[in-house]
Amino acid sequence: MQGRVQRALITGASSGIGEAFAHHLADRGVELVLVARREDRLRALAGTLQVATEVVPADLTDDADLGRVEARLAAAHAPIDLLVNNAGYGAYGAFADLGANRQVGMVELNTIALLRCARAVLPGLVARGTGGIINVGSVAGAQPDPFAATYGATKAFVSSFSQAVHEEVRAEGVTVMLLAPGLTTTEFAEVSDLHAPSGAARVAMSADEVVAAALRDFARGRAVSVPGSGNRLVVAAAGVSPDGITRRVSGWMHRRMSA
Ligand SMILES: NC(=O)c1ccc[n+]([C@@H]2O[C@H](COP(=O)([O-])OP(=O)(O)OC[C@H]3O[C@@H](n4cnc5c(N)ncnc54)[C@H](OP(=O)(O)O)[C@@H]3O)[C@@H](O)[C@H]2O)c1
Repeated sequence: MQGRVQRALITGASSGIGEAFAHHLADRGVELVLVARREDRLRALAGTLQVATEVVPADLTDDADLGRVEARLAAAHAPIDLLVNNAGYGAYGAFADLGANRQVGMVELNTIALLRCARAVLPGLVARGTGGIINVGSVAGAQPDPFAATYGATKAFVSSFSQAVHEEVRAEGVTVMLLAPGLTTTEFAEVSDLHAPSGAARVAMSADEVVAAALRDFARGRAVSVPGSGNRLVVAAAGVSPDGITRRVSGWMHRRMSA
């Protein structure tokens, strides 16, 4: 663990990758603040953990709810020294067919709420010279994603933003890390209308595997964590292939996934 992490706040802790972070961090003795909309799920999770746990039900696209989470992140009492900025969803399909509100809500959750949470916690981290932020992006942020255009754009934001802020604060003893998972078995596919072809589903990682890799990389002070060698290959290929080829391959894949 980078620095001494005593207390973490996890957004989107009611399922999937966020819930796995809660289990892994609790196993390391880290106290937790769990954030998501489904309070019943958060309370049930808290009941299974052997560490002090606060439950903060919040819709992070609601300004008042987000303000309460920001206040908790900035509080001097029982300070947060790890923020896992994880809440997010996608939408698969042609941009012109997907509802505008669904896509704007995605931008608000995946980028604005993530930015505001990071901004709320970072001054305290820098002042104390310890801890950090894990921002959950995606391999989808490594290239344009036709048929998941808005989702890919939100994750490109998370990638650029996280790596830039990493560089700003790394000399202060604070680690800001981009976590860019590939296909992971969670509720994401159902929420996001993603229909992975059977071959893709076979290579999906578990949330446990993703979080174990992420916490290893965070402890090493890495700027970027891409769990799984197949996912690292996808990101590397996107970085070196001509843009036109990357766009076409990405579009071909996502059209099949949005069918
Ligand atoms: N699964 C994948 O294949 C995959 C791949 C790459 C990246 N990711 C990223 O991983 C992150 C976690 O997703 P997941 O796979 O674990 O999916 P998930 O199981 O659907 O979990 C999403 C979490 O976000 C929370 N959430 C959604 N809308 C919210 C809102 N308005 N306010 C507060 N919380 C909200 C959900 O809780 P409530 O519904 O209770 O609010 C839930 O806890 C996301 O950022 C996603 O983009 C996932």
